[in-house]
Amino acid sequence: MKKSTSEKKSGMFRTGVNIPESSRAKMVNLLNSELADLISLHYATKQAHWNVKGAEFYQLHLLFDELADSVDGFIDSTAERITALGGTAEGTIEAACNNARMEAYPVGISTGREHLSALIQRYTDLANHTREAIDRSGELGDMDTADLFTEISRSLDKNLWFLEAHIQA
Ligand SMILES: [Fe+2]
Repeated sequence: MKKSTSEKKSGMFRTGVNIPESSRAKMVNLLNSELADLISLHYATKQAHWNVKGAEFYQLHLLFDELADSVDGFIDSTAERITALGGTAEGTIEAACNNARMEAYPVGISTGREHLSALIQRYTDLANHTREAIDRSGELGDMDTADLFTEISRSLDKNLWFLEAHIQA
């Protein structure tokens, strides 16, 4: 009997995408790490948006919301690339807590400087992890995901510039 196309084999769904299953499985792991970090970074940036205090409150409040929105868009693209490759997107908050490489965002900070510094560290870390993921995707023959990672890392670098400009003067 013909197997259903939705049947899972070794945790992966069958698909017409002509990348070998073992490579797709490795890409799914890489993408799930990225997904967890993006979810963590999105909520870290929202945390800063909600809680920042001080003379620069309003402009930082608006900036942090803009950055959180830009990260949010990549959460969806990353999760959907996982499912396009035949994997399962681990996109719940609980899964993100388990899979995230990023440190938990501190909840006790309040000044603009503290939030800028905490966010700069996290945008730097994820931008650099994402650049490594571009190379790994190329090694595994998945240039479409390499393109997605390239777009994400370029956007994270731009966000990082917006944050770092506050402390570079
Ligand atoms: Fe808001």
